[in-house]
Order: sequence, then C-alpha cells, then structure tokens
Amino acid sequence: MHDNRTILLTEDGSHTIYNPEIGDIYHSKFGALSESEHIFINTGLKQITSTQQTICILEVGFGTGLNALLSCLYAINNSTGICYYALEPFPLPETIYSKLNYSHQFTETGIQEIFMALHAAPFNKQTAISGNFTLIKVDSPVEEHKLNDKQFDLVYFDAFSPDVQPGVWSQKIFQNIYKATKPNGILVTYSSRGMVKRNLLNAGFNIYKLPGPRGKREIIKAVKPSTSND
Ligand SMILES: C[S@@+](CC[C@H](N)C(=O)[O-])C[C@H]1O[C@@H](n2cnc3c(N)ncnc32)[C@H](O)[C@@H]1O
Repeated sequence: MHDNRTILLTEDGSHTIYNPEIGDIYHSKFGALSESEHIFINTGLKQITSTQQTICILEVGFGTGLNALLSCLYAINNSTGICYYALEPFPLPETIYSKLNYSHQFTETGIQEIFMALHAAPFNKQTAISGNFTLIKVDSPVEEHKLNDKQFDLVYFDAFSPDVQPGVWSQKIFQNIYKATKPNGILVTYSSRGMVKRNLLNAGFNIYKLPGPRGKREIIKAVKPSTSND
C-alpha cells in the first residue's frame, strides 16, 4: 500500500516526517535532532540517570525512532541500563526509515546499524539492541494499551500535537500514565498548552515549565510525587 508520509529537512540538518493525513510533522521544523536532545535527553534522561544507573522508559509515539536512537547511544556511552518500551500504532515502512539521515549527524561509526536494528526489531517482543539497551515496541494506541503499575522511571510523551489529537492528551490518558510511573518518575513533553498542564496536574503530577529548544518558549517536565500511593 502507498504510504504518503514524506521526509522533510529541518533547520539543524536532520530529517523529520510530515504526515499529510494528520497534517502534522513529527518534530520541530527548527531542528528534529536538537529538539529531541533538548527535551527528551537533556531534560529527561540526564536528570533521571543522575540518581539511577538502570531505568525503564515509556515512549508514546516511536515514530522515526530518533528518541530511541539517542537514548540507546546514551546508554552505550554512559554504561546506563535502559529498558525502552515504545507505543507506535502506525510504524514507518522501511522505504522511509532507511532514508532518515540521523546517523550522518554523528562522527562515530556503527550508528546506522543501531538505528536499523531499532526499526527492524519485531513488535510485541523484547529485543536486545546492545548489551545494556533492550527495546519493546508495541503496536497499539496509548488509549487502548494497558500499562503495568509503577513500571517506568521516565516517560517521553511525544504524540502528535493537541490540535490534531486532543484525545491523546486527556486527563484519563495522563492518569493511566501516572499509575504506570514510579514515584519520583518524570514525564517530559514538548507541549506546554494550558489544557496539557491542567490534565497533567489533575492526574497528580507536579508541573515545571522549562525553557524550550529554538522556536519554542516552554516545555513541560511533570514529576510524580515521591509520596504518591497510586
Ligand atoms: C510527533 S510524532 C513523534 C514520533 C517520535 N517520537 C519521533 O521522534 O519520531 C507522533 C507519533 O505518535 C504516533 N501515534 C499516533 N497516534 C498514536 C496513539 N494513539 N498512541 C500512540 N502513538 C501514536 C504517530 O504514528 C507518530 O509516530
């Protein structure tokens, strides 16, 4: 079947995807790589691994696999153990993901092999990508997927924007994710909409507004209180 999603070049030289059916792009047009590094790696992963050597990450929207790639490289370079659990109901075909230029953004060798292994990993099965990074991709939407309680240290909430997928940013979804997050666990996301902040707050998270990457004033870090019984 023809897939009409297309590759775009963002301003930092890294690729993203445009989905014309949804009318949204997967990353900021100012830079896919710089956005992922700023929000998910620097604000989320670096903070949580400052106190823990082994963590579990939930990603809502695996997409291009860029966040997974950066997290895997971080695990390898910092001897951090990461189990990575990613939801993706609309995976990209090989004809698209094999053309993404993320490995060209690094000087190290072997990155394209890691990137392809992340995409080639079968769904609904745990796969070891490196000695300390395991991946489970699940092909169900976040609205329908039952997560186990207190499973995740860190959540990358990287769905399409609330403009096009408001239901995915609902209080009910954030409540389910709250239950699946460990006390002191962190959720990071690029949207700082009022509705997003309210729904996270009502789900039980403490909210912190932080400076965003280029082109974005604020991003959100949400923390599950250490005292939470849920
Ligand atoms: C903004 S893109 C970001 C993807 C990815 N994190 C990346 O760096 O490329 C949103 C992703 O969410 C996926 N998605 C769409 N509906 C979803 C749903 N209901 N539950 C989980 N993921 C969904 C899309 O297919 C897309 O891959």
